[in-house]
Amino acid sequence: MNIPFAYGKIVEDADFTDRTEETAHLKGNFMSLTNTAIISPRRWGKSSLVTKAIKAAKAEQKDILFVRMNIFKCETPQEFHSLFAKKTMEEISSSAESLLSNAKEFIARLLPKLTISDPLNQYEIGLGVDVKSNPIDEDILDLPQQIAQKKKKKVVVCIDEFQQIGEFKDTLKFQKTLRTHWQNHPDVAYILYGSKKHMMLHVFGEYNSPFYRFGDMMFLQKIANEDWKKFIVERFENTGKSITPDLAGYLAEQVENHPYYVQQFAQYAWLRTPKTCTQSIVDEALQSMLYSLNLQFVNLMDTLTEKQRSFLCAVSEGVKNFSSSDTLQHYQLGTSGNIRILKDALKKRDLIDVTGKDIQIQDPLLKRWIIQEYIKL
Ligand SMILES: Nc1ncnc2c1ncn2[C@@H]1O[C@H](COP(=O)(O)OP(=O)(O)OP(=O)(O)O)[C@@H](O)[C@H]1O
Ligand SMILES: [Mg+2]
Repeated sequence: MNIPFAYGKIVEDADFTDRTEETAHLKGNFMSLTNTAIISPRRWGKSSLVTKAIKAAKAEQKDILFVRMNIFKCETPQEFHSLFAKKTMEEISSSAESLLSNAKEFIARLLPKLTISDPLNQYEIGLGVDVKSNPIDEDILDLPQQIAQKKKKKVVVCIDEFQQIGEFKDTLKFQKTLRTHWQNHPDVAYILYGSKKHMMLHVFGEYNSPFYRFGDMMFLQKIANEDWKKFIVERFENTGKSITPDLAGYLAEQVENHPYYVQQFAQYAWLRTPKTCTQSIVDEALQSMLYSLNLQFVNLMDTLTEKQRSFLCAVSEGVKNFSSSDTLQHYQLGTSGNIRILKDALKKRDLIDVTGKDIQIQDPLLKRWIIQEYIKL
């Protein structure tokens, strides 16, 4: 049985809906080699969008080489350099032979011991050096430009989980190094995105940050309710089941059109639907989804201080004026001076989004769970 909804992975083709404008915009940035930072809260579809735009660009233009990497596991600049070299080499090579010749041509000078393996045609490069005792020269960062020049092509480097560099020990120094190298690459664009919105904003949006004004900042929006309606109705129909547009719209609305949750919720509802989806099936599916998240949310609350938890409750219940004595007293938030500290701490954890005076819980189901379950405890 083919389940028509997907979540928790990069979605492509029929699983990917809308984002026409963003796809065109990003594709335009690839073609014009505009450096780009993509920023959004967690699970709104950054990685999927990049995948989609790369596919679209590849279909139209053959003279762009794409290099993709996810630096989630990198903990030091050395690990970053090593992955950067490895991925750049692998992604510009179409076979083990070309990988070997590219590696000899471009990185043998910097990395003397290279091993190439070809496990089931997934060409892999082994750097063959212990990067701890043989640090890789930072000139490795110029590799994409060297390749672009030599091969007379454009190169687009896409780095996922880019906020990870904020965790490196000398992060500012490393960011300066990256920027210094990358700003001298006329034939390369860097597309940088990551799942921690607060950290990404810090790296790209702060005046003193080396990456300030690095390029285009794309703030991803949610997918509109109208698009979800169409998507959900079609996916039900394609599998011999049905749901009305109104009910599909209602479903997406319950999770505030959050891409990951809409797909998860729609799947829960679809699985419960024998033939025709009903309001009670949707309501049941929502409860079941909340139930499945219960432990995760309980554990999350355990990591917060009592005042932070109370603050989240207040935001969930729609409180606007946090410094009023009624609010401070009702939620036991202490003095009004505390509010900024609480706000900053929860922003840093990506639990809330603050736009001017407006404060929202980032995760729509956490909000619902707080109102429905937590406050009652
Ligand atoms: N365009 C889309 N159409 C349909 N579903 C989508 C779309 N984009 C994202 N989703 C849903 O959201 C989920 C998360 O997408 P993705 O991993 O691309 O987001 P992300 O922003 O990179 O997440 P993270 O912040 O965790 O890195 C997908 O598995 C899918 O369920
Ligand atoms: Mg992602």
